[in-house]
Amino acid sequence: MDSVHESGVWTHDAGIYSAGKTIAFALHIVDCVRLPACDQATGPRADEYDPTMSEIIDEQVTAELDGGFVVFRLGTRINTLWKVHKWFPIFRAARKMVDEVDADSDSGLLAFERRVGMRALEIVQYWRSFEDLRNYALDSEFSHAPSMKSTMEQMERCDDVGIWHELYVIGDDSYETAYHNTPPTGLGTAGTLSPAEGTRRTAAGRLGLTEGDDFSYEPRGVEAESVDTG
Ligand code: HEM
Repeated sequence: MDSVHESGVWTHDAGIYSAGKTIAFALHIVDCVRLPACDQATGPRADEYDPTMSEIIDEQVTAELDGGFVVFRLGTRINTLWKVHKWFPIFRAARKMVDEVDADSDSGLLAFERRVGMRALEIVQYWRSFEDLRNYALDSEFSHAPSMKSTMEQMERCDDVGIWHELYVIGDDSYETAYHNTPPTGLGTAGTLSPAEGTRRTAAGRLGLTEGDDFSYEPRGVEAESVDTG
């Protein structure tokens, strides 16, 4: 059944949800009876983790990067789908810019990921420092600086396409990460991967707030004690 969210966006959420539930149940039955059972670890060993590998790591791991880093989220949004001539150049520019920084081994770009949606492209970038990121953005040798003015002018003339960014400067001990049954992802493609064990077992442990023993998965065991976040 169709429904309208408060935002006015049409969705078919009720229908999709119940169809999804039926398909998930059917696949669950198939998975339960199929042979061989999914009970064997097939991924690499802990001492073989490499941020560039594409294999799934089938245990929980965490990624760390010494000395802090910067996360830059760059987004473009298509507001008027049929005006391809307005949004396509921006999408192409985004691709070109990321490729040019990636090709420069001194740029300070550590890793990036592209995410594509129906109307959107997002590129999440991990940089060594804000200085490196700013140098790229304002260096007239690269394609970003010359295109800033014309892009701003286009944005002011019409709203057929939007761009946005968010920038976070992350301190050495102010983040934590966990990945399970995925290939290296996000910061995991830039940092050092290690098993999420011992003091790295929980989010608070990875933040250095506890010894990693602050909850258990046993029934009723997830009542968190308060931790001092300073
Ligand atoms: C590798 C990709 C990109 C990086 C690293 C990047 C980085 C940055 C940074 C750091 C700034 C802030 C500059 C400052 O205020 O000192 C900025 C501003 C800006 N960027 Fe990008 N950008 C990228 C891609 C793009 C793309 C694809 C476009 C559009 C074609 C774009 C358009 C702009 C515009 C118009 C501004 C000025 C915004 C303002 O003054 O408020 N950028 N960018």
